[in-house]
Amino acid sequence: MWFSPLLLLLPLAVNAQRFVRFISTDGKEYTGDAILPSGTSDASKSTSARLITGDILGDFQITNQVKPIQKLLAPLPNERVRTVRCVGFNYAAHDEGANITIPDFPILFYKPFTALNTPSDNIPVTAGYQTQGNFTSTMDYETELVVIMKKTAFNISEDEALDHVLGYSVGHDVSHRGWQIQRGGEPEPQFSMGKGADGWAPWGPAIVSTNVIQDPQTLNIWTKVNGNVMQNDTTANMIFGVKQLVSFFSMGITLLPGDVIFTGTPSGVQLEKADPVWLVNGDVVEVGLENVGTCTNKITYT
Ligand SMILES: *[C@@H]1O[C@H](CO)[C@@H](O)[C@H](O)[C@H]1NC(C)=O
Ligand SMILES: *[C@@H]1O[C@H](CO)[C@@H](O)[C@H](O)[C@H]1NC(C)=O
Ligand SMILES: *[C@@H]1O[C@H](CO)[C@@H](O)[C@H](O)[C@H]1NC(C)=O
Ligand SMILES: *[C@@H]1O[C@H](CO)[C@@H](O)[C@H](O)[C@H]1NC(C)=O
Repeated sequence: MWFSPLLLLLPLAVNAQRFVRFISTDGKEYTGDAILPSGTSDASKSTSARLITGDILGDFQITNQVKPIQKLLAPLPNERVRTVRCVGFNYAAHDEGANITIPDFPILFYKPFTALNTPSDNIPVTAGYQTQGNFTSTMDYETELVVIMKKTAFNISEDEALDHVLGYSVGHDVSHRGWQIQRGGEPEPQFSMGKGADGWAPWGPAIVSTNVIQDPQTLNIWTKVNGNVMQNDTTANMIFGVKQLVSFFSMGITLLPGDVIFTGTPSGVQLEKADPVWLVNGDVVEVGLENVGTCTNKITYT
């Protein structure tokens, strides 16, 4: 009997589950499939990974070679993420708390890719974002599900959307409300000065494949500041889900492999509070997403 060699190989093909980029103990940078320690699905706790050769946005292979992880980097180098899309006001409770009308269409804004940051490095706050006289530094946290594009998408339907997605990460849409709203102009605030500074978009700790997360609208999402829980919700409460966002954004703008979409934050941010306690130098913010993990970054005045 004759067997095709290709067919014999097929059952051995393994899908990557948690794409990570990391520095190993030899000081070099690698891409791998994170090996989770038992009892956790937080890829930030992984201490080793199976090396991946090739390009995770194209053809790649998972090898049997295991390397220790010394430090996790952002899952893709900044310059491979050509466009960072972000969504405003995408959870009803957050909008109501901040006295924002629930939008009829997704609210899109962009961050420059220089805003991207690793899952563990400091979040730099330059002098212009610190308190100046009577203009208070109003730094706020926003935890978000992040979508990573795998295929070029233009004018695609909601049904086609998830097939164009590589996987999901958790991200922190660091925000300064004073520059976003108070100094953001009339009649509408602006997002870019308030959210686009260098390092103001930590993400990771891994890109968890759509093989693992088949439905992105079922995940617990949370924030801790200095260990205290500040946001704790579910992605089921997104107004526009991942399929709708990807399809809508592709209406006339091409989404490219490696592009990321920060999909909006649930309620619990300081913007919604009558007596807000803004983030200050030294505060440690953990953003977390079920089955993905955590990014933990310190607000640092520079
Ligand atoms: C804040 O200070 C500036 C000058 O430094 C002043 O023009 C402005 O009126 C002050 N605003 C308030 C609300 O006190
Ligand atoms: C967009 O997709 C629709 C439905 O598939 C198709 O009819 C239309 O021609 C497409 N438009 C462009 C500009 O590709
Ligand atoms: C969020 O709430 C859920 C359900 O009440 C709870 O199981 C979970 O521990 C909470 N998460 C955090 C980070 O406190
Ligand atoms: C939202 O509006 C209500 C009613 O006007 C007010 O009590 C509350 O303080 C406002 N919230 C914020 C965050 O401005």
